Amino acid sequence: MKKIGILKEKEEETRVCMVPQVVKKLINELKFEVYVEENAGVKAGFSNEMYLNEGAYIMKKREKIAELDILIFINYPESPFTCSKNTKQIGIINPLFHYQKLNDLKNIYQLYSLDLMPRSTKAQAMDVLSSMASLSGYKAVIKGAEKHISLLPMITTAAGTVKPAKILVLGAGVAGLQAIATAKRLGAIVNAFDVRKSAGEEVRSLGANFIEVEGAMENDNAGGYAVEQSVDYLEKQRLLIDKYVSEASIVIATANIPGKRAPLLIEKQSIEKMKAGSVIIDLASEQGGNCAYTKDEEEIVINGVKIIGNSFLSRELSFTASNLLSTNYFNFLKHMDLIEKNELINDPIIDSCLILENGKIVHERVLQFVDANLQIK
Ligand code: NAI
Repeated sequence: MKKIGILKEKEEETRVCMVPQVVKKLINELKFEVYVEENAGVKAGFSNEMYLNEGAYIMKKREKIAELDILIFINYPESPFTCSKNTKQIGIINPLFHYQKLNDLKNIYQLYSLDLMPRSTKAQAMDVLSSMASLSGYKAVIKGAEKHISLLPMITTAAGTVKPAKILVLGAGVAGLQAIATAKRLGAIVNAFDVRKSAGEEVRSLGANFIEVEGAMENDNAGGYAVEQSVDYLEKQRLLIDKYVSEASIVIATANIPGKRAPLLIEKQSIEKMKAGSVIIDLASEQGGNCAYTKDEEEIVINGVKIIGNSFLSRELSFTASNLLSTNYFNFLKHMDLIEKNELINDPIIDSCLILENGKIVHERVLQFVDANLQIK
């Protein structure tokens, strides 16, 4: 029987990558023996007992790690541990942006990062970025509404009519579209911007206004992601965004480019024009943020405008986030099992996620990033 281990995450992480209900599927469908580190699921609402009831074993001191075939986690573990020389490790480590960290990960047999999942129909059920981005987009609006000093919908009272809030969403990918849908449901007026023209149709279908700059560059080979833009385009974009930011009560910034610093879309002078009591939620803060003042994992106030940098808002929905992640991980493990049973090689999903093998980087895109970035330095 193959053995799989589930790690307890670092202090600030509230999610767990495998919930008890899905542990049951690992045991029954994939025939794993499952070892869960003590208290791994507590912050997401899953006790040790719940895991035991589904047939898992609890590891008190990671005592089984050296015997595992597979070890799964969300963040790469901070505390040292020793695996066997054949243990596959699976997590979500954003290797295109945090490529320097790979230097520290020696002696790993195989390391997979699920955020490198291809954006294909087949891989959709394993796409951890999509499931977490949906939750973050939703939570960004809820947080914005809570931090803002007025309401989102228009209401009429005997004392007068309150106008609806104006929300600007920057980046209309998975998080942005979920933010738009949530903000519309709560009655706000929503404007949204994205460099990808195709996003316009999706934005409009949710009842929001799509603000456009002519002449955006797109690349069919970018896997659906955005690419960097020309100087001329960026200037036009700067003026347009400045106008909309200064009128917005809440700005939700989600714009990202894989492996690059997040595009700077909200400049200091635009924030100075915003009304005191407005809020900016910057979901791109891990990669530098879309707002000039953003500090990652901090809430600051500039001229009365609250600026919250948080790329992990899904941590504030730890129960649901853990459930979705578990399904993503399970589907990946099931796919891996199928590939191994059929002795297939060169599977596009597995190959896309495998970054390290026998201590060496084997992922072409990660290698290019490492080389390019080392040259820049
Ligand atoms: P992301 O998190 O990398 O970026 C968020 C958004 O920011 C994207 O829409 C991007 O176009 C936009 N952006 C980048 N630079 C910008 C700039 N300078 N100004 C304004 N906006 C900017 O992207 P995400 O949400 O992961 O999705 C990327 C694409 O992949 C989307 O087209 C999405 O629909 C597609 N997708 C496809 C899936 C599938 O087929 N399995 C699954 C998930 C997403």
